Amino acid sequence: MASADDLRFRFVAEGDLTPGDHAAISDLLVVAFPKHADVFRAASCYPAPPDHRLWMEDPSGAIVAHLGFERRLIGVGERDILVAGVGGVATHPGRRGKGLGRRLMAELRRVLTTETSAAFGYLGCREEVVGFYERVGWHRVYRKVREMDLGSMEWTLSEGPTLIMPATKPLSAWPREGTIDLRGMWW
Ligand SMILES: CC(C)(COP(=O)(O)OP(=O)(O)OC[C@H]1O[C@@H](n2cnc3c(N)ncnc32)[C@H](O)[C@@H]1OP(=O)(O)O)[C@@H](O)C(=O)NCCC(=O)NCCS
Repeated sequence: MASADDLRFRFVAEGDLTPGDHAAISDLLVVAFPKHADVFRAASCYPAPPDHRLWMEDPSGAIVAHLGFERRLIGVGERDILVAGVGGVATHPGRRGKGLGRRLMAELRRVLTTETSAAFGYLGCREEVVGFYERVGWHRVYRKVREMDLGSMEWTLSEGPTLIMPATKPLSAWPREGTIDLRGMWW
């Protein structure tokens, strides 16, 4: 889909990504996450692989804003909830502060509600970016999160910032209590 400023959205299933797509995603993630540049030079995602990518690219094919998500049935207390676990959220350093992250999240919500049955978007992040997510449609929830640690391959409990975004279910449908069990690695 084209937009007024010549940027266009792409929504691509992981299995349909070309080697060129992976390289373009890595190029963005290397500059967006300089502390993890080595990781993103080697792979275009970390740690849990997404099942879809959503990005904005310029006419040359360079990716200026990106995210990935994987649909997964997680546990919240006694309930099972289908979420789209989101990771690799990034805007190119030269394009930040211009509303691209906001547009990307609006498109994510559209995609999740029209093309998936995910009840909620889900992500964990650093404290410094919570404000961004809260401005663009995400809601912070305060829960313990059980997840698989990639380094030790052991189940761990964490309490870092956790955010959800209503997709096919309203915010009121999120369970009021209970530990979140990701049943795998974070995104
Ligand atoms: C976080 C990031 C994706 C934001 O992208 P962006 O394109 O600059 O965001 P936008 O310009 O669309 O900003 C949308 C709103 O969030 C606000 N915002 C942006 N970054 C923010 C931050 N770190 N804290 C609080 N608010 C923030 C903007 O001021 C804007 O507010 P407004 O529309 O109400 O005026 C971008 O800074 C980035 O790529 N950071 C490095 C990678 C990273 O940390 N990703 C998150 C991993 S969990």
